[in-house]
Amino acid sequence: MALHRGNSESPAPRGGGRRLAVNPFYGATNPAAGMTEAPPTHRLPDSPMAPSTAYQLVHDELMLDGNSRLNLATFVTTWMEPEAAVLMAECRDKNMIDKDEYPRTAELERRCVSMLADLWNAPDPSAAVGCSTTGSSEACMLAGLALKRRWASRNADRYPSPQARPNLVMGVNVQVCWEKFCTFWEVEARLVPMEGERFHLDPQVAAELCDENTIGVVGILGSTFDGSYEPIADLCAALDALQERTGLDVPVHVDGASGAMVAPFLDEDLVWDFRLPRVASINTSGHKYGLVYPGVGWALWRDKEALPEELVFRVNYLGGDMPTFALNFSRPGAQVVAQYYTLLRLGRDGFRAVQQAARDVAGRVAKAMEELDDFRLLTRGDQLPVFAFTTAADVTRFDVFDVSRRLREAGWLVPAYTFPPNREDLSVLRVVCRNGFSEDLADLFIDDVRRSLEDLRRQPHPLTHDRGAATGFHH
Ligand SMILES: Cc1ncc(COP(=O)(O)O)c(C=O)c1O
Repeated sequence: MALHRGNSESPAPRGGGRRLAVNPFYGATNPAAGMTEAPPTHRLPDSPMAPSTAYQLVHDELMLDGNSRLNLATFVTTWMEPEAAVLMAECRDKNMIDKDEYPRTAELERRCVSMLADLWNAPDPSAAVGCSTTGSSEACMLAGLALKRRWASRNADRYPSPQARPNLVMGVNVQVCWEKFCTFWEVEARLVPMEGERFHLDPQVAAELCDENTIGVVGILGSTFDGSYEPIADLCAALDALQERTGLDVPVHVDGASGAMVAPFLDEDLVWDFRLPRVASINTSGHKYGLVYPGVGWALWRDKEALPEELVFRVNYLGGDMPTFALNFSRPGAQVVAQYYTLLRLGRDGFRAVQQAARDVAGRVAKAMEELDDFRLLTRGDQLPVFAFTTAADVTRFDVFDVSRRLREAGWLVPAYTFPPNREDLSVLRVVCRNGFSEDLADLFIDDVRRSLEDLRRQPHPLTHDRGAATGFHH
């Protein structure tokens, strides 16, 4: 569970909780005079220790974390060039909010927004507004808030009232940040269910769910569950038709957490962005296919009308008159600098090459999985470089959870999870191919899958599991 509670069930005894044996070398220059007692781990130690000792204790514990490069569950960047790491280290002391004190960092943030506005075909990139965030979750919260405020102003005669409860329409496959948004800001989540082999939103069904209280519709480029792109242009067309029929003018937000940094380079003919007049805002995670270490995200609005002015706060106590739109005040500047570095360093052609390599690897691994006959592909990695697959109908000796566990023994983190309504019957594995998951690594992965299957196929009895228990799914 990510929410950490105090160790209330079994309070750590004074002088130490779970004790780590302290290597005599760690304690002092003279090992004989080293630490005789392990420091407490669940309450503040009484006295300081040498930095080298503290470093070794923390370092040793972290050795038990998985290897991030072998983590095929995450969309988040796990490799950057040494130059990027140097720049980030140079900026680790800069707070992004201190824009007057660090004007160049602030300028790099502005340039990133302009580059993204241009990349996403804003009609007038200089009129687009945007900001950096800690990730897509924060960006989605901000975009959702803008949709809610725009709807509230348009319905000021009715809202608030019990009859005017705002709702947001989206596929049941949305990332959890949208459920959070709806819960935190009291918006009804109207979810388009999956149906048969359709694993994401259907434009017609989405349009049918809209009414006068709909603040917007979220379209995802690409879905966290299987890497597929939702049909954003068709969604906009369905909402255009709805407007013609009913007069309802429902804006679209595109959650491009991953795809907004893939499609512009690999799917140039796909129209999903500000070229569609109904698209009011777009978010992406700089730390996913934006190729920056965590945590940076971006939220952009097509123009000032799309972002209500009253949501933008102005502070003057840092010097200057600084507009800010963010949930947090302080935030690291290093990631924004690294994003600018990456955009500058790669350019369009560089990004295209990197994302194409990831897509090629995804296609190659997906094909290898298909050829094994034990699996059925749901997606092929030809949209996001991500694919989902399940066991073939005639496989009875093992399931996707067994495969996930076996791969973990070989060091690979491949999540297994069940799909949401109406396809809870479907359990899948998902592989996220990122920059750094090279063809060589992919071949090693394929070998390990083959080896795992040899064991699993011989498994004497089918194991019984809690099939609802997802393993490491980033949802
Ligand atoms: C479609 C989608 N939206 C939002 C998010 C949340 O992004 P972040 O982890 O940057 O907060 C994710 C993360 O996987 C995602 O896939």
